[in-house]
Amino acid sequence: MCGIVGYVGTRQAPDICLAGLRRLEYRGYDSAGICVVTDGGDLDLRKVVGKLDVMQESLDEQPLVGSVGIGHTRWATHGKPSVENSHPHLSTNGRIAVVHNGIIENYQELRAQLESEGFVFKSQTDTEVMAHLVEKYYDGDLREAARKAVLDLQGAFAFGIICADSPDEMIAVRRFSPLVVGIGEGENYIASDMGAIRAETDKVYVIGDDELCLITRDGIEITDLELNAIDREVYVIPWPADAAAKGEHPKFMHKEIFEQPDAIRACLAGRLSSADKPITFENINLTEDEIKSFKRVVFTACGTAYHAGVVGRFLMERVAKIPSDADLAAELQQRDPVVLDDTLCVIVSQSGETADTLEGLRAMKAKGSKIVGVINVVDSSIARESDGVAYIQAGPEIGVASTKAYSLQILTIELLALYFAEIRGTVSPEEAREIKECLLRLPEDAQTLLEREDDVLAVAKKHYDKSSALYLARGVNLPSAMEGALKLKEISYIHAEAYSAGEMKHGPIALVGPDMFVLSIAPEGPTYDEMIGNIMEIKARSGPMVAVAYDGDEKIEQTGVDPDADPSDIAGRPNDMIYVPKTHEYVSPITIAIPLQLLAYHMADLRGEHIDQPRNLAKTVTVK
Ligand code: AGP
Repeated sequence: MCGIVGYVGTRQAPDICLAGLRRLEYRGYDSAGICVVTDGGDLDLRKVVGKLDVMQESLDEQPLVGSVGIGHTRWATHGKPSVENSHPHLSTNGRIAVVHNGIIENYQELRAQLESEGFVFKSQTDTEVMAHLVEKYYDGDLREAARKAVLDLQGAFAFGIICADSPDEMIAVRRFSPLVVGIGEGENYIASDMGAIRAETDKVYVIGDDELCLITRDGIEITDLELNAIDREVYVIPWPADAAAKGEHPKFMHKEIFEQPDAIRACLAGRLSSADKPITFENINLTEDEIKSFKRVVFTACGTAYHAGVVGRFLMERVAKIPSDADLAAELQQRDPVVLDDTLCVIVSQSGETADTLEGLRAMKAKGSKIVGVINVVDSSIARESDGVAYIQAGPEIGVASTKAYSLQILTIELLALYFAEIRGTVSPEEAREIKECLLRLPEDAQTLLEREDDVLAVAKKHYDKSSALYLARGVNLPSAMEGALKLKEISYIHAEAYSAGEMKHGPIALVGPDMFVLSIAPEGPTYDEMIGNIMEIKARSGPMVAVAYDGDEKIEQTGVDPDADPSDIAGRPNDMIYVPKTHEYVSPITIAIPLQLLAYHMADLRGEHIDQPRNLAKTVTVK
């Protein structure tokens, strides 16, 4: 999605903006632009289609010079990727420049009105109306002009605004789209994501909806839209400046997969210290009475976070004995669900800014549901609008393909389900101890799985040229298949689908053949025998098989293998194995996620794809 960085100080604004935009590259974009206020009291603008390297080359050839500036990377929504449609957008008189994230819903009416008043549009974007509106209202006071303009808007926005006639000021304002103001000494910043400016400062103000900021070199004034001063606490970014760097890893995704043992430790800390002690949770803001009274739990999320919610549905029912659902956030609104009393909605989101998820939260809240967020980014919009938050403690996740956030979302939800179960008395002390022992062993299990990367690479080498894949599982690991298939398709572009193995005979088995590999998740446990049956059916139809099984399972490699088949026939080949350490059924979705992340990573890598910036995808989807 789009990225914003702005600077007011004494250094060169284009350098700061470009460096900040590079830190947001992972979010996905198709064009970029930077605008500065020049020493001569004009605006100077540069826009390019394509990557920031193109912008860098352009600036090397002909620098922009100015110590007040705004920059933007655009992910096209209204109008194709082009120089005209990229931001910043200028007002008709060329004295005001605007960058924007979000969507202005009433832009067509505003555009028609502004055109009738003589303002001249150069792009197809919704954003451009803001530049002309600010010009319309400007009479020497940039903040007042921005304030009046915002009052005309409907929709979602975070804006950065500069003006040649107010050369020492920058305005920032938001509604629904994320925005932070970075605090420096004699210099200040704005950004759509704190990661963009973490290398410059660790102190930020997190800006709320309908809050307006006047930013100069020496000060930051935050007000509401009636200009009442807001006294905002400084938020100190808890991760180091280099946390958002790849380090020795070839890709962010690889780094983040390898961070999982430590991340799991951090997520467990303070919540589960011993198998003999009860789970504790801070900040979820639920009383024991409330937890005992819940009659329904609804998990709501998008993409990978939704898959974690599907695991949550299973665990909440099995362990805490509360009827549960998992809803795709975008579909939740269409369904307009009936929410009865004593419903808890668990909102799962890495970024805490996904537009559909945020809207799902608001819909469920309006219907009277209590909201707990399972969130990574502290103080994000979803975190702030939830009644309570269980942070997953993953640290920054940069790779577009979510990895460590997924395992920690499941872990946090599992701890929550156990916490509820202990309060509700729905889990026996023996079973609770058994699950907790496996949870406490997770960091070592995750480490073991990472040490087996070469085994997964060997499997990837056998199948990376296939055009299609089917991921099968049952029970609590059905979402593991869904997530494994999503990981594969989003970064390798291999068509991958997930099915309950029980559905195979109802349609998908028609697809099985040598061009497609089937990955069957078959840990020993309640679903094992049926999974073995499915593996045999697929092998009998010459489908190449990758099986995920527990260490020590000696029979599965040869399951379905026809000893009389011709050596060139797939039916005669042993299954390709991915082994994972044995653990509790309810903990297995976390361990199984890790080799499936590695498999997707290596398949994409062998195919030469851009793993950290897959085509058409953005890290955080802040538009609907
Ligand atoms: C997964 O790899 C994707 N990047 C995507 O499905 C993601 O999980 C989804 O957009 C939800 O994002 P969130 O967790 O930040 O809300």
